[in-house]
Amino acid sequence: MPILDLEPQYRALRPALQAALERVCGSQQFILGEEVEAFEDETAQYLGVAQSIGVNSGTDALVIALRALGIGPGDEVITTPFSFFATAEAISLVGATPVFADIEAESFNLDPRQVAARLTPRTRALLPVHLFGRPSAMGALLELAERHGLAVVEDAAQAFGARYAPPCVGCAAPACAPATQARLQGRYVGTLGTLGAFSFYPSKNLGAYGDGGLIVTNDPQLAERCRKLRSHGSLAPYRNEMLGYNSRLDALQAAILRVKLPFVAEWNAARRRVAATYRQALAELPGVVAPAVTPGHVFHQYTLRLLDGRRDAVRQSLAEQGIGTMVYYPTPIHQLPVYAGRFPPQPVSEAAAGEVLSLPIWPEIAESVQLRVTSAIARALSARRR
Ligand SMILES: Cc1ncc(COP(=O)(O)O)c(C=O)c1O
Repeated sequence: MPILDLEPQYRALRPALQAALERVCGSQQFILGEEVEAFEDETAQYLGVAQSIGVNSGTDALVIALRALGIGPGDEVITTPFSFFATAEAISLVGATPVFADIEAESFNLDPRQVAARLTPRTRALLPVHLFGRPSAMGALLELAERHGLAVVEDAAQAFGARYAPPCVGCAAPACAPATQARLQGRYVGTLGTLGAFSFYPSKNLGAYGDGGLIVTNDPQLAERCRKLRSHGSLAPYRNEMLGYNSRLDALQAAILRVKLPFVAEWNAARRRVAATYRQALAELPGVVAPAVTPGHVFHQYTLRLLDGRRDAVRQSLAEQGIGTMVYYPTPIHQLPVYAGRFPPQPVSEAAAGEVLSLPIWPEIAESVQLRVTSAIARALSARRR
């Protein structure tokens, strides 16, 4: 059993996908053009945001968003050490300095209190990640940013379709003002800060058949800078105004994504049902902390904690029974070789890296398959206790 199976989705959408590919090949317009513009319009409308800019990848979306803000050498950007490397890599690539603030144990997302403690006169932006599809504590983070005049770039790579919800009862996230909650309530992540970055890597909740990414913003000037930056610093041929990138979304990916976009809400709802089934089946197991189905969460991953040093043995036992799992992430970013020794310890992230295990999840996964996974976990845990 794989950790992700994209085949059922392909089977269901195959005629529409093939027609879309045929349409692009027939048009002979492969880079940007009408197909990409239509996708940008449709995502802007879907997400309720003014501007949507298709780029080559989620990584480029982050890099271009930071460049559009003019962030570079001498600037600090506060982010989480518990994410995919690209989050911090983007900050370093524009010449700025990543400053890591630790996460909340329960949500795996940036802890706003830790962020507040890392502010300096050089801080220019906050870069929260909605990890595993769970919205970050955006109310508290946006209030902090507003108080200190900072930009907020949301890394929504794993969270297309996730929506802001106030901190749930029992969650560790600090509350924000009722007016902030009311302003954000129900809005899609990625559209809450100054700019948002999405990835369409094939395994994402909205996935292309290759690399792809999107930047969204309500600021037309920032949007124009992003459009220039994605295409060698120009909006018109041979009018290069700045150093940019070759980072355009291609029409084949846009056409595939247009077929899939109307189904994302349904798929995300299915992921939440899958998560609820896991949660129920794992609730009684000692030493397992299973994530709750919190409001707005779209479960890109279903990631639990296995306490008491049992993670690797459980993972091995599942592998022996043919059940695929992943460890997202085994090493917090500040401890990766590229940054090693340059940053202070991040105890909550380091503990998480030793305990997390992501289980198979996709919208069409059968309940019987899920129960095979949870029974295998129960067996692995009781074998260890005996
Ligand atoms: C949290 C996070 N940020 C950024 C990225 C980068 O996206 P891409 O792979 O499209 O460059 C990813 C992709 O895996 C991600 O998970």
